[in-house]
Amino acid sequence: MKKALLITFLITICSQVNFAQGGVTVVTVKNNADAPIINKNIYGHFAEHLGRSIYGGFFVGDTSKIPNTKGVRNDIIKALKELKIPNLRWPGGCFADTYHWKDGIGPQPERPTIVNKWWGGTTEDNSFGTHDFLNMCELLGAEPYLSGNVGSGTVQELADWVQYTNFSGKSPMSDLRKKNGRKEPWKVKFWGIGNEAWGCGGNMTAEYYANEYRKYATFMSDWENTGGITRIASGSNSADYNWTEVLMKNIPINMLGGLGVHHYAVIDWGKKGDGVNFTEDGYFHTMQSALKMEELVTKHSAIMDKYDPEKKVAMIVDEWGAWYEVEQGTNPGFLYQQNTMRDAVLAGATLNIFNNHADRVRMANLAQCVNVLQAVILTDKAKMITTPTYHVMKLYSVHQDAKLLPISFQSPLYTFNGETLPAISASASKDKNGAVHISLVNVDAKNKNKIEIDVNDLGVKNFTGTIITSAKLQDYNSFDTPNKIVPTVFKGFENKKGKLEITIPPFSVVVLEGK
Ligand code: AHR
Repeated sequence: MKKALLITFLITICSQVNFAQGGVTVVTVKNNADAPIINKNIYGHFAEHLGRSIYGGFFVGDTSKIPNTKGVRNDIIKALKELKIPNLRWPGGCFADTYHWKDGIGPQPERPTIVNKWWGGTTEDNSFGTHDFLNMCELLGAEPYLSGNVGSGTVQELADWVQYTNFSGKSPMSDLRKKNGRKEPWKVKFWGIGNEAWGCGGNMTAEYYANEYRKYATFMSDWENTGGITRIASGSNSADYNWTEVLMKNIPINMLGGLGVHHYAVIDWGKKGDGVNFTEDGYFHTMQSALKMEELVTKHSAIMDKYDPEKKVAMIVDEWGAWYEVEQGTNPGFLYQQNTMRDAVLAGATLNIFNNHADRVRMANLAQCVNVLQAVILTDKAKMITTPTYHVMKLYSVHQDAKLLPISFQSPLYTFNGETLPAISASASKDKNGAVHISLVNVDAKNKNKIEIDVNDLGVKNFTGTIITSAKLQDYNSFDTPNKIVPTVFKGFENKKGKLEITIPPFSVVVLEGK
């Protein structure tokens, strides 16, 4: 018994020890022919009919003085194109399971109104509908990801939506589409079958939803038998592994293109804390919740591997990001929050997790794109700013469709009040032109960290670096100081005969490029 206790003690102590040599973390990055491609869709976004996401965010209407293309703000189109936004999920979220797509087509003055039950009880006039969204995706060069209504809709309604958007031949729905001004179908690839079926999508059990899913998936043909649609099941709430198990067990693999997972970084659902006025305690516990993503992806993957060892089904983390109390004085149902260096660190570390699990994680959607939760864009009437999270996603866009370079290291620890987190997060890839990108995050709020990377085998010689950091963790871009946090040249490294010696400041995100 005593021996067993001693062994447990030693394992615990060893797992807490920083194995870095002389305070330097040795990171190994390898070329590996078998490594997966990092699917660009990991860098996806989410736009729900919620608060000022669509109305007052993306969409101002074509009579607005704010420069727009068919009602969509030109400044947002430009910023998202620069971000290389690969896909956009719409119209929810919880809203999706109350949304009847036929309310949002045809002449705008004739569209019926509905009340947005989930988000602030506002009256939705349906002026932004299917055509508006899908045409906007074309402008953005982004794949649309439509979230279908299972909670309060019907199989026929969802099957009709697919026919309306995707069928090029003659049919009732394609005729209706043509009558509404769109001849060619949009060919929407990604289809969600409900959202959060365990909660706002209908409070279903996993077993019940699995059956519902099978029924919906059966009738959601792409109507041309090209196999062109990816059906995505509503996935688990964070660590609800039973949900994943039941769905993988009960849904045939050939009916399942993707399985979702939702996880928000929240300190405490009862006391979420302010987005800007937070202490190190608030920072540490937000990061603790965010970094749980590593465990979630690993454990959900292990369950999926059991039923799908060939990894045919994609894991789709179709809602992730930080969730704080709404900004004071704003509508509690609108989920508007500011975005600080904390959010930049969180985004960098989460995206590293997705990159490193690219064999299974093939899409993710940050919640949400404009004016809601961990937004990349904030607007105030005619003004628009990009957030620190925007800059991280733009910097990391170099990983889109690049080949993962597996990375390994023993992270030093970031200690706060006796609790610990890994201080360093990293991922690396090689793009189709042979350029290597290594993204590094120092999660530690107080201490810089030293890292050493041997790059001799990577086939590149000259490195440059970019950093996102600021004087304070609480710093953010405001409408008065929109460029307080922007990427700058990173000089904190030396290339000593193929060994990069890097000193990364506290709470900062760095991307190194080797050519
Ligand atoms: O992103 C906000 C909400 O969070 C979504 O509507 C819902 O799916 C989740 O609970």
